[in-house]
Amino acid sequence: MAQITEAAAPDGGAALPKGFRSAQQGWPELDRIPHPPRRIPLLGDVVGATVRRPVQDSMRFARELGPIFRRKAFGKEIVFVGGAALAADLADESRFAKHVGLGVANLRPVAGDGLFTAYNHEPNWQLAHDVLAPGFHRDAMAGYHRLMLDVAGRLTERWDERERAGRAVDVPGDMTKLTLETIARTGFGYDFGSFERERPHPFVTAMVGTLAFAQRRNVVPGPLAPLVLRAATRRNEADMAYLNRTVDEVVAARQAEGGGGELRDLLDRMLQVAHPETGERLTAENIRRQVITFLVAGHETTSGALSFALHHLARDRQVLARAQEEVDRVWAGKSEPAYEDVAKLRYLRRVLDESLRLWPTAPGFAREARHDTVLGGEHPMRRGAWALVLAMSMHRDPEAWGPDADSFDPDRFDPKAVRARPAHVFKPFGTGARACIGRQFALHEATLVLGLLLRRYDLRGEPGYRLRVAERLTLMPEGLRLNLSRR
Ligand code: HEM
Repeated sequence: MAQITEAAAPDGGAALPKGFRSAQQGWPELDRIPHPPRRIPLLGDVVGATVRRPVQDSMRFARELGPIFRRKAFGKEIVFVGGAALAADLADESRFAKHVGLGVANLRPVAGDGLFTAYNHEPNWQLAHDVLAPGFHRDAMAGYHRLMLDVAGRLTERWDERERAGRAVDVPGDMTKLTLETIARTGFGYDFGSFERERPHPFVTAMVGTLAFAQRRNVVPGPLAPLVLRAATRRNEADMAYLNRTVDEVVAARQAEGGGGELRDLLDRMLQVAHPETGERLTAENIRRQVITFLVAGHETTSGALSFALHHLARDRQVLARAQEEVDRVWAGKSEPAYEDVAKLRYLRRVLDESLRLWPTAPGFAREARHDTVLGGEHPMRRGAWALVLAMSMHRDPEAWGPDADSFDPDRFDPKAVRARPAHVFKPFGTGARACIGRQFALHEATLVLGLLLRRYDLRGEPGYRLRVAERLTLMPEGLRLNLSRR
């Protein structure tokens, strides 16, 4: 059982004083941390920054300014860490914990104290974590395998049609349908019918709307938000009301079935399982938050991971051939892979890891000091001060990954190569007690689907396609289309 101990709630449960967490107050030697050269009064570091690609901007700044730097926009100053050694230091759970800020905090109106957005001191974090973590253990995962195969079957039906018609497939669009259906079916027994619809299910439109709204709140300065976002705020309220209503209906339908002790999915667990030690149960309001949390956290990141992996596979013929050879060999004679067969695709798993290294689809996470400390032996931080870890920069730091860190090479995840690297330099799923609860789920789903696709099709990219990466709360290859031919 992961414990957020007393030390993990840096203030022992009480909120830190308001305003304390601005970088100016939290970092006594902030002046020693570089910032972009052309800082404009009032606006801050806006030269060279774009609204649509803030993560890729930050990565560029990391290359220019070094392993730690700061950016200021509209009076808010944020410290970024992209160097692998400093990021590894931030993974020390005895001194640092998750910080709920920025994009994550903006999701609080919709996800509340759900697992992803809960503050460390909120009791519902530990309760929900302990109740739901067994929902990702081996036995439960083996139960999801059948549903994952069913959803993958709907994808290949559709891709077969496209292949017969000689038309390219929309990779991010179809991967998003796949992962959404998978988490909805395995989590809550819900079917959005994404593959059968011309337009997205209204729930999906509302969910994407609330995420886009949260993203916009990141870039519109606080005092201007009520004015600039007036219409968007009204739409967001309608979206949230729709999300809540739909989830309440799903929960009510399940309650009407009466449970019966069998734990088929996460929703059964939320409704039926009490905390093993305290006997406490999740409240109806918290269950609503968790359902929305899992639908959001459980699909876009995995869909991006699958999409980037397919991009690299289609581009690198040698890697594709080696991965196909592995699938053909390891799954030979099986019309459908069993649960245990998925982890046997070792090379394909390395392809996935390497894609997540170059393109960590959850591109950053924030860490705060549990008490006064010195980051990397050089940068003093007061209790509550925080920094944003840029996973993409950490994953491409030549000091940890070598001079060719920008190139795609799955053999970096060969066990010997992994052992030769320092610890804590590969963190696509975050770190510590608040790391991703769905890691195994995502890796199983993605490896299974890639295996099924490679066994069935040869993949070719569209001539002239150059990778462009779109940013919502997650990263996604924009406009990626592939041509297929049945093997
Ligand atoms: C490739 C796919 C995925 C990636 C890259 C990813 C990444 C992450 C990261 C980086 C965090 C930590 C965020 C932070 O520190 O603020 C996180 C947390 C979380 N993820 Fe994932 N995730 C993925 C898939 C999933 C799936 C499939 C699920 C659900 C089935 C899920 C559910 C969650 C939840 C609930 C949390 C919050 C955990 C907590 O704080 O206790 N994720 N994820």
